[in-house]
Amino acid sequence: MESLRGRDFLTLLDFTPEEIGYLLDLAETLKAEKKAGVPHKLAGDKSIALIFEKTSTRTRCAFEVAAHDLGMGSTYLDPTVSQIGKKESIADTARVLSGMFSAIEYRGYGQEIVNELAEYADIPVINGLTNDYHPTQVLADFLTIREHFGSLKNRKLVYMGDACYNMGNSLMVGCAKMGMRFTVCAPKQFYPKQELIDTCLAIAAETGAALEFTEDPAEGVKNADVIYTDIWVSMGEPVESWETRVKLFIPYQVNAALMEAAGEQAVFMHCLPSFHDLKTTMGKALGERYGFPDGLEVTDEVFESERSLVFQEAENRLHTIKAVMKAVLE
Ligand code: CP
Ligand code: NVA
Repeated sequence: MESLRGRDFLTLLDFTPEEIGYLLDLAETLKAEKKAGVPHKLAGDKSIALIFEKTSTRTRCAFEVAAHDLGMGSTYLDPTVSQIGKKESIADTARVLSGMFSAIEYRGYGQEIVNELAEYADIPVINGLTNDYHPTQVLADFLTIREHFGSLKNRKLVYMGDACYNMGNSLMVGCAKMGMRFTVCAPKQFYPKQELIDTCLAIAAETGAALEFTEDPAEGVKNADVIYTDIWVSMGEPVESWETRVKLFIPYQVNAALMEAAGEQAVFMHCLPSFHDLKTTMGKALGERYGFPDGLEVTDEVFESERSLVFQEAENRLHTIKAVMKAVLE
């Protein structure tokens, strides 16, 4: 395999199964080294610009801690207080930052924005979430699945709910690449776009992956290894869309009965943040408004159960993001 040095990390579509496997192996090593107190700083003076047009806890912290562990500098750029988009175009921003930093992380809206940054920057650009893809999240998810089950190949991952957005799209691509069985379990209008399904079916034909699509939760989750869900309304979706969405997604809530239907091997995963209780202002408002005291996309019972891997998954954001930074910069 050729070195990943200098590569952009925009979507897993750009990476071979071998390269994805390499990043997971590297993350596993970096995780073990961190636990053992073994330093892993990069040579030379490196730094990363972190652009966040949407809010974040995990991704921002993972990039900042990873940069620190790699001996790099990091600068957080909040578009509300920088020139980006208002007085300076993406193309100009990319060229300015290329003169000062070693890499750029971007979280924002359309995938075309991060693609444009990458086109104009002559340093690696890493996608920290767009409407279309969230590839660093999938690396953390796959590391977690490998840690729990020992391997990825042929594992069945069922994605419940809003499958046509960043998490559904990225997991479908990742599962197709890694020869997994991926089931979309969602209302038909929330299936990923047909063009992306066709691309993933072509990848699956080469890797031995299987893709399935169903509107029936009981049928979809049978023999699942992983039941995965995400919030029903992502960042940037208008509040007015809640009512329609909640009504459509109710049958896809991950609750004890659904985990039971999946079988005792099944674990629960979620990229987080999650509305699993009423302990946040938004969760409370939504839970009370729509009558879900026990959680929206997942019940508190499942979220807090032993079958839930969500905090291991969240920690793995650090190790996998660090692996991407090291691979593209060293
Ligand atoms: N999962 C994830 O990307 O979390 P943040 O939005 O907190 O970064
Ligand atoms: N689909 C969610 C993912 C958050 C990590 C969002 O875009 O808000």
